Amino acid sequence: MKQSVKMIVGNWKMNGESTGAKEFERLAARLIEDPCRVDVAICPPATLVERFARMGGPAGIGIGGQDCHPEPRGAYTGSISAELLFEAGCAFVIVGHSERRQLCAETDAIVSAKADAAIRAGLAPIICVGETLAEREAGEAVAVVRQQILGSLSDRLAGREWALAYEPVWAIGTGRTPTLEQVAEIHAAAREAMTERLGDCARHTPILYGGSVNVDNAREILAVENVGGALVGGASLKAEDFIAIIHAAELALVAAGAQG
Ligand code: PGA
Repeated sequence: MKQSVKMIVGNWKMNGESTGAKEFERLAARLIEDPCRVDVAICPPATLVERFARMGGPAGIGIGGQDCHPEPRGAYTGSISAELLFEAGCAFVIVGHSERRQLCAETDAIVSAKADAAIRAGLAPIICVGETLAEREAGEAVAVVRQQILGSLSDRLAGREWALAYEPVWAIGTGRTPTLEQVAEIHAAAREAMTERLGDCARHTPILYGGSVNVDNAREILAVENVGGALVGGASLKAEDFIAIIHAAELALVAAGAQG
């Protein structure tokens, strides 16, 4: 996670059987042939982590988990600890994805404990927040995101490597995205809440946008102020699409460099 470098993270969710390794191989081969200026990571299902970490290393692709348990070990059938992910080759872990907040009833306190676990194990947590459609329509988006940030960040993050991901729940997997003004508004409010919670050290922590990022909208979203990268679901499953998004991030970087 380098400062002033865009970060493009693919969240494969529960996908990747049979053809997944081929797509990953394609992605790795392209990045070896044509190295990029952005940080690239893939968060595959846990069963693929070790293999992808081995294959992705030479291409500079970081590997992340999609969730971790707060405890380092113990009688938690079906769970995976941050330590196990680290040993398997992860450098990151997504925590608090809205699908887990909704389907597994994860609260801000649980998300915060998971982010702490990631730090404990040497992983950089990617902490997800985002409002539902009802909250957006009620004019509560900024307040909801702010509250989630204040509740999901602990002091342990101060001075460590981590990222925030703003993912409006209504934009995930729907093909709908907020306007660029809405993205800018939430990212600015997120930056404010992060620095309020952790001080100046959160001034340069990347804030990723996630929710229906694709080849066509990536460049303009990545050019918005305070957007440090993207968390990409569906469009990360095909190497060609993901590479196009990586190129869009490079173009956004070049444009930002030309301006500043
Ligand atoms: P999507 O998913 O890009 O398919 O909308 C994003 C995410 O859930 O992280």
